[in-house]
Amino acid sequence: MPHRARAIQIAPSILASNFVELASELRSIESADLIHVDVMDGHFVPNLTIGPPVVAAIKKVAPKPLDVHLMIERPEQYLEAYIDAGADILGVHAEACAHLHGTLGQIRKLGREKGREVRSCAVLNPSTPAEALEFVLEETDQILVMTVNPGFGGQSFIEAMLPKIEKLRGWIEKRGLSIALEVDGGITQKNIGLAAAAGANVFVAGTSVFGESDRKLAIEGLRRAIR
Ligand code: DX5
Ligand code: ZN
Repeated sequence: MPHRARAIQIAPSILASNFVELASELRSIESADLIHVDVMDGHFVPNLTIGPPVVAAIKKVAPKPLDVHLMIERPEQYLEAYIDAGADILGVHAEACAHLHGTLGQIRKLGREKGREVRSCAVLNPSTPAEALEFVLEETDQILVMTVNPGFGGQSFIEAMLPKIEKLRGWIEKRGLSIALEVDGGITQKNIGLAAAAGANVFVAGTSVFGESDRKLAIEGLRRAIR
């Protein structure tokens, strides 16, 4: 289904939302395609956010599927907890996985065992080359190219990631795979077109959505900036 994989998706990151008003913050982004949820452990990245109980609470009121981004060490120990909490897409960092191929396969398998389709996502830090994923593409439903160093919202987009996105899109097309290609970090109306032109089709946006009072307009602005 290459056409579906290439569909443009906007995924607001709730890291930039007001956690005290999470229910209404989630309602404010119902025109988005995915809800991006950043999980940090204070070890893999120098920041701490939320864990499975909060993800489960979000799932109950989320208007769209959850794109859960694990920035944690030993993610393989927590896959089931995040799938049970409601992750629809579960992302693990290549840098955190000793056995990335197995971990990606495990995400799909655990989902199937629970009667759900949970999509596997492989995440690359800015310093990690595309080649880290060359031999795991068959196990991967989505690739996330970090366009900032993970840990915090509100950082600047690293343009040097564009050739990496191009290379990955080239592999996906050449092999006829239906892998979604996501970017995360510093995405704004000014640079989203660059990422799309390089081949990305899923766009995480924290500050550029939740930093605006009219979220519907902010999401529409990002879509328009791609066209
Ligand atoms: C960074 C997180 C991002 C972050 C994006 O570690 O993975 O998802 O929330 O926020 P902005 O869009 O503000 O860079
Ligand atoms: Zn993220």
